[in-house]
Amino acid sequence: MTIKRLSLAFVPLMICFAIWGPGPAHADEPLFERDVLPILARQCLGCHGGLRQRGGLDLRTIPSMLKGGESGGAVKAGDLDASRMWKRIAADEMPEGEKKLPAAEKAVLKGWIAAGMPTVAQRRKNVDPLLSSDERHEPQQVAATIDRHLEAALSEANLKPAPLSDDAEFLRRVVIDLTGRVPTASQAASFLDNTDPDRRAKLIDELLASPQFGEQFGRTWRDWICPPELPSDPNGGKQPHKEAQNFGAWLGTRFAAGDSWATIVRQIIEVDGEIKNSPQVIFFGLVGEGGKPTASGSARAVASLFLGVQLQCAECHDDPYRDWSQDSHWALAAFFRKTNGDFNKISEGPPSDKKKDNVPADSAKLGQITIPKSAFKNAGNAVQAAFLGGQVFEPQGDSALRPPLVDWLTAKENPYFARAFANRLWFYLFSRGLVNPVDDFRELNPPSHPGLMQLLANEFAAADFDVKHLVRCVCNSRAYQRTSRVTPDMTESTTAALTALFGRVPLRVMTADVLFDSLKLAYGDSKLDLRAIDPKDGNTNGESAPVADAYLEFLRRFGTNEEDATDFTHGIPQLLTMINHPRLLNGSKSLDEFLKAKPAPTTEQTIEWLYLTTLSRRPTSEENADIMAYVNKSSDLAKSYGGLLWMLVNSSEYLLVR
Ligand code: HEC
Ligand code: HEC
Repeated sequence: MTIKRLSLAFVPLMICFAIWGPGPAHADEPLFERDVLPILARQCLGCHGGLRQRGGLDLRTIPSMLKGGESGGAVKAGDLDASRMWKRIAADEMPEGEKKLPAAEKAVLKGWIAAGMPTVAQRRKNVDPLLSSDERHEPQQVAATIDRHLEAALSEANLKPAPLSDDAEFLRRVVIDLTGRVPTASQAASFLDNTDPDRRAKLIDELLASPQFGEQFGRTWRDWICPPELPSDPNGGKQPHKEAQNFGAWLGTRFAAGDSWATIVRQIIEVDGEIKNSPQVIFFGLVGEGGKPTASGSARAVASLFLGVQLQCAECHDDPYRDWSQDSHWALAAFFRKTNGDFNKISEGPPSDKKKDNVPADSAKLGQITIPKSAFKNAGNAVQAAFLGGQVFEPQGDSALRPPLVDWLTAKENPYFARAFANRLWFYLFSRGLVNPVDDFRELNPPSHPGLMQLLANEFAAADFDVKHLVRCVCNSRAYQRTSRVTPDMTESTTAALTALFGRVPLRVMTADVLFDSLKLAYGDSKLDLRAIDPKDGNTNGESAPVADAYLEFLRRFGTNEEDATDFTHGIPQLLTMINHPRLLNGSKSLDEFLKAKPAPTTEQTIEWLYLTTLSRRPTSEENADIMAYVNKSSDLAKSYGGLLWMLVNSSEYLLVR
């Protein structure tokens, strides 16, 4: 979670904003967040933002503009003559060396002030929450509401949603998403032969009840909390992998047991004790520095993961672009002032003087934190603990500080907690959040579908943060069940627009975890090891030396782009390594088992089994004829089946989630 990466992700977002929700009343009037702020960010915020406020003027928000600078208010809604900011722009009165605004941008600013300075946020206040917000609904009802909302937005944009997926496409997608591997051959056959009209909803229920659901969500969250750091990374190798995996497994048992998200988060943030009893102890070390918790790192992680906001640019100075002050970062950090320990143990107590820590021997009063030197600006200032958004917290005596933070965090009324999870879930299932990046919620970066965001957050809170319930609601929607196939009448731009409005499901590459587990299944080998290219001499064929663990090496080679699963940059090396790998031509225990069945399976049955095992569908009659011809020519049947399996796992259809 490096600062560099996040700041880069931020810039294009400022400029090319999301597609807006349905139904603006005056579609062509300029809006602050969408039209005005990108211009100001580029032209003005460097001198009139969070970091510098020349002339005493901050142009990041409307209240700060109204307050104005040394000569008073910079704008007045609907009154160009009384708007100092407009007069400067109109007269091209820019500081030396600064570009003058092009005519089109001037027109935007002029139109915006003249129209009374309208904002997207105001529009959002009129957003219909779609369903009553205070009760839990039936999943099918929520799913239908999701669809009604998305389809209205699509029809507004004159787009026709893609048709529903067929059963094979749906099956493979939902099994991968909810259990982290492709379906088995028998699972696929029984679903494809099922004629029950409710078979999809029933399959979703079945998958949610399996332990694999927990495992998959556990490892997904583990990677979001801290992407695995590989021994081969230039500055990596310090992360204790086994313990991090145990943390993922622990999360998995919680998800599988149906614990609410509030309970899970409480158990992470309030943890006290040793890793052997509580694997989640590792959390604070993972998000800290050098394996130790830091108040700053904990605040940053809690904000990003559980609140969906980025505070990291406010650690050392007020965020130049977002409306977060440096104090808001440290006010949250103050709750972690007494959190001490390392990867292996966490306790709540005063920091020891000896430790080199982000929090120095802190003389600040209870409930306060002193801004350390490493934060550069305002070092030495004491900041009082406060919940995000401002409400100050005064501890009673020397009580623990984390529990009250969790009470606030997981309250149903908390405006951040439910939507942050719902948005990540949406991102997980559709490869794109309703808000992007997923941890950059703020007034000025509103969701693409505000009503839908509200609906999901309300439903999640009303259902006591029941994770399976929310997954069930979304997976039962037509939106989730649409085909990813592109039909000939879809141009590239309609395909992109459809994907952005969730009228189609994008293609993605399997994650490394899913691919590894799926290959283990296809080869019946739970210890599958694809490290040495040539097992005899360890020759790596030009690849860098493999690392010590089969799983980590697999991650290193096959890791996908965690922020964008639809990015195929990893596809080619992935394919090459696999094609080159002798292990995959070296027989499959699952195939052997299948062939041993009595009565012996026919060639046709074997081909079908191979297709079901890998692609989760039956071969087309053409494929079947081709393969029959190939197999019939072969003198070694077992060998040609093995070759067929190898060919199938090397096909792009296998590597993609459709
Ligand atoms: C390179 C730095 C810089 C940039 C970029 C810049 N300004 Fe300024 N601005 C200043 C300085 C310095 C002052 C104070 C001196 C003055 O009034 O000229 C100022 C003053 C102002 C004031 C008067 C504030 C007051 O209350 O006295 C307004 C209004 C203003 N700027 C608007 C803008 C707008 C709008 C933009 C972008 C289109 C912009 N500025 C870009 C440096 C900058
Ligand atoms: C570890 C401390 C630290 C963090 C974290 C940090 N900054 Fe800074 N930043 C600084 C310092 C120090 C300066 C120089 C301040 C000055 O010139 O007064 C600075 C300056 C800046 C400037 C002004 C550069 C210029 O040319 O005038 C911008 C813009 C900025 N930071 C953006 C960001 C953003 C965006 C983030 C989050 C992604 C961020 N910073 C996070 C320490 C930090």
